[in-house]
Amino acid sequence: MEVQLVHEEWSKIECDALLVPLFEDQLNAEGLAKEIDISQEGLLSELEQNGGWTGEQGESITIYRPKGTKAGSLILIGAGPKDLCSEVDYRILFMSAVVKTKAYRLPVLGVLSVGSPDPKRMAQCALEGLILGAASIVDEYKTVERAVAGVEHVLLVSDGSGVDEATASDLKHKASVMATATNEARRWTNEPGNIMSPSRLADQARKIADSSALDIEIWDEKRIEKEGMNMLLGVARGSDEPARFVIIRHQGAPSSDSPPGVLIGKGVTFDSGGISIKPALHMEEMRTDKAGACAVLAAMQAISRLQVPRNVVGLLAVVENLPSGRAQRPGDVVRSMGGKTVEVINTDAEGRLILVDAIHYARQLEPAFIIDIATLTGACVVALGKVRAGIFCNSDRLCSAVQEAASKAGEKVWPFPLDSEYRRDLRSDIADIKNVGGRWGGAITAAKFLEEFVGAIPWCHMDIAGVSLYSEGAAIKGATGFGVRTLVEIVSDASLYPE
Ligand code: BES
Ligand code: ZN
Ligand code: ZN
Repeated sequence: MEVQLVHEEWSKIECDALLVPLFEDQLNAEGLAKEIDISQEGLLSELEQNGGWTGEQGESITIYRPKGTKAGSLILIGAGPKDLCSEVDYRILFMSAVVKTKAYRLPVLGVLSVGSPDPKRMAQCALEGLILGAASIVDEYKTVERAVAGVEHVLLVSDGSGVDEATASDLKHKASVMATATNEARRWTNEPGNIMSPSRLADQARKIADSSALDIEIWDEKRIEKEGMNMLLGVARGSDEPARFVIIRHQGAPSSDSPPGVLIGKGVTFDSGGISIKPALHMEEMRTDKAGACAVLAAMQAISRLQVPRNVVGLLAVVENLPSGRAQRPGDVVRSMGGKTVEVINTDAEGRLILVDAIHYARQLEPAFIIDIATLTGACVVALGKVRAGIFCNSDRLCSAVQEAASKAGEKVWPFPLDSEYRRDLRSDIADIKNVGGRWGGAITAAKFLEEFVGAIPWCHMDIAGVSLYSEGAAIKGATGFGVRTLVEIVSDASLYPE
């Protein structure tokens, strides 16, 4: 999809359809909505009067062959009340709008980005939304040809205020890198377990690294065993697919010695639960239990393309969690890479197990900070639903930085506490720690488990179990690619690195 930024009067834009977001109370005000209404001889006010148009979020009407324009049709989309429309909403608005247009042949789509206090930010949100919505990601394995061609060319019409050519081109570059990387993460995450095995995910990582300036190392089972990553091996034991540990390096700082930011992703290519097997209902969704690793890989690609001037290391812990005659059992005790022993009470709490060895590896890099991202607990979904990801930090400064990064990225997060009382639930009779706590506060006890292995390094855990997939009934299906843009924003924050 080609994107072009244009500064032209809306009525002169030649396109198959012109997408116009309108806030609820905009019709009566002066400005664009009024102009459109006048050009359509009062049609909009008429519709508003008889209840045919309210401007509510998600509402849309199409005016075919509109008068006084060069557009094939005008598609008006409701943006809700102006002061309630956040950047997150704005991005989703454009994403859903472009999804709706997929049902028609509209190769050239004009898009108005208007009415915002910060035209630059909004243009970036609009662009990201358009690229996210235009990607067709979930129907890859349908053998019947798709009926619709989709949007080929987008003309983003800005009202020009404050956006010069150079800014526009930067903005377009950043939006396109961010949204394209998010789409990559979505595509990889959606891949079924029989296609995206741990070794295939590692191959994918190699492809990405080879096509950019990223350095990559892939450890096979032999190497993983030699390095003592027994937690990773323990989870992989039940599967015939061997585990992989992937190390991706971006050298952006002038000195290769500058402490890196480290990003760790949970890459369980399929999570059956292992011997503590999951119920069959919705088990197929567990092919997306690699969303964290896919987000880290995509973020590394974007970090390289945007030439972030910092050293960043991405670590992917990749396994399949299956039951078998060789599988790890409840009650097993495993020695982690760093030496601490873990009693495995529940083999379905496998994400925290594999992350432990990755965290230990990360510590040896003497990093500025560690962020891990994982579809870790159902408990986090119970707490926050499918709207926000949980964040768990051992440093208030890092916590604020992550919140700020997420807000820039248009991704919602919410901080959880890490009081020492929660640690008590993880006491084991025979090992240093056990891998599950009691019934309550499951998202927090999972984070407390990870914290045990982090030490004094500033660390943030992101639980994306609830936000990694679009909710039922959303305009788009499958993986969201949550985290990609936030991770890129975090590692770009200069204040997180020593002088
Ligand atoms: N991958 C799951 C968590 C998950 C749940 C992700 C729902 C996405 C949607 C994780 O490995 C898991 O099974 N966690 C268990 C932990 C429990 C056994 C302590 C859970 O949350 O039920
Ligand atoms: Zn599990
Ligand atoms: Zn899992």
